[in-house]
Amino acid sequence: MIQTVLDIVAIRKDFPILNRKVNGKPLVYLDNAATSQTPQQVIDTIVDYYSNTNANIHRGVHTLSQEATDAYEQARLKVQKHFNAEKAHEIILTSGTTHSINIVANGFAAILQPGDEIMVSALEHHSNIVPWQMLCERTGAILKVIPMNLEGELVMAEFHKLLSDRTKLVFCNHVSNALGTVNPIEEIIESAHKKGAAVLIDGAQAAPHIKADVQQLDVDFYVVSGHKMCGPTGVGMLYGKEAWLQKLPPYQGGGEMIAEVTFEKTTYADLPHKFEAGTPNICGGIAFGAALDYMNAIGFPAIAAYEDELLQYATEKLLAIEGLKIYGTAKEKTAVVSFNIEGIHPYDIGSILDKLGVAVRTGHHCAQPIMEFFKIPGTVRASFSFYNTKEEVDVLVAAVERARAMLL
Ligand code: ALA
Repeated sequence: MIQTVLDIVAIRKDFPILNRKVNGKPLVYLDNAATSQTPQQVIDTIVDYYSNTNANIHRGVHTLSQEATDAYEQARLKVQKHFNAEKAHEIILTSGTTHSINIVANGFAAILQPGDEIMVSALEHHSNIVPWQMLCERTGAILKVIPMNLEGELVMAEFHKLLSDRTKLVFCNHVSNALGTVNPIEEIIESAHKKGAAVLIDGAQAAPHIKADVQQLDVDFYVVSGHKMCGPTGVGMLYGKEAWLQKLPPYQGGGEMIAEVTFEKTTYADLPHKFEAGTPNICGGIAFGAALDYMNAIGFPAIAAYEDELLQYATEKLLAIEGLKIYGTAKEKTAVVSFNIEGIHPYDIGSILDKLGVAVRTGHHCAQPIMEFFKIPGTVRASFSFYNTKEEVDVLVAAVERARAMLL
């Protein structure tokens, strides 16, 4: 039984896209791990910005520029408050998680020595694998991998064995995008720090469900994307402890990130501008702030509790389908169900679901090493948000049953 503490009927009215039909059927949007939908409050912020405030920031003496600058810096303060960063200039507004990770990877190229070790988890998205491989190629550092088990959990005993005085950096996602596993990041951060290693946590999949407190976590870097938490695409956050951000060199050169430029020498701007070269996604940043306002007004504890009920309900109903196997059965999970039906390719199930109005992601979910571990080409992934309902789970289950009947 779903014990709904959220007013789902009212919440759903905030999301105009949930009213549309796909292939003549009411849309059942279950691809929230790829991108979340946008509430009217955030859409209104975007329309209002372009209707009334659009100007470049930090540059103009005129009123519009000052208003846009104020709104953008207010958004930075909202992000700071949400993630409880100590200082506003520890928040770098980026184009998203991938951009944030690449800023850090690029910065560490100036720090790492050949033979230094960096560690990633077996549960990573490609965006948290490839930049570190590129970093290893540039520096001669060695990449180590924290293995996973059949439940889709990290084998922490192996992590502790791999950790050594040579480890300089550890990278791990807070939540796996492909399986929904919530990783024990507190233990990872504390143990890595004891060895003097820095830790970057990819919070892209956690941030829509779990409110991370970067000071409490004592994490060195935490990165997220706005579009997975009711904001627009093209905006995200790199949180870094001030001391690290001071130490890392800039990622891109350009306007806004300088203190003084001559043809002989350039000095860089203070944080956060040192990492914000060029005109940023001004409207996106402001809308990201509005998205955080929206989600906080609903409340993260209520969101997490409701989504967990949806997860339990969906897991139970899907497992009742003959031949269906769920990948990722960790004790701690967000509302993601990755599954296959024996003898059917995930793409074929996804295509039939789409014909029935149900949007899911199929494939390797940018996490090919996980698929390789399970020896499968991919999965069907249903990922839930606080605006989904138990009735939508029923539609999913009926659609999967229909797909099975058609394809077997
Ligand atoms: N990383 C996003 C996903 O898992 C795109 O779908």
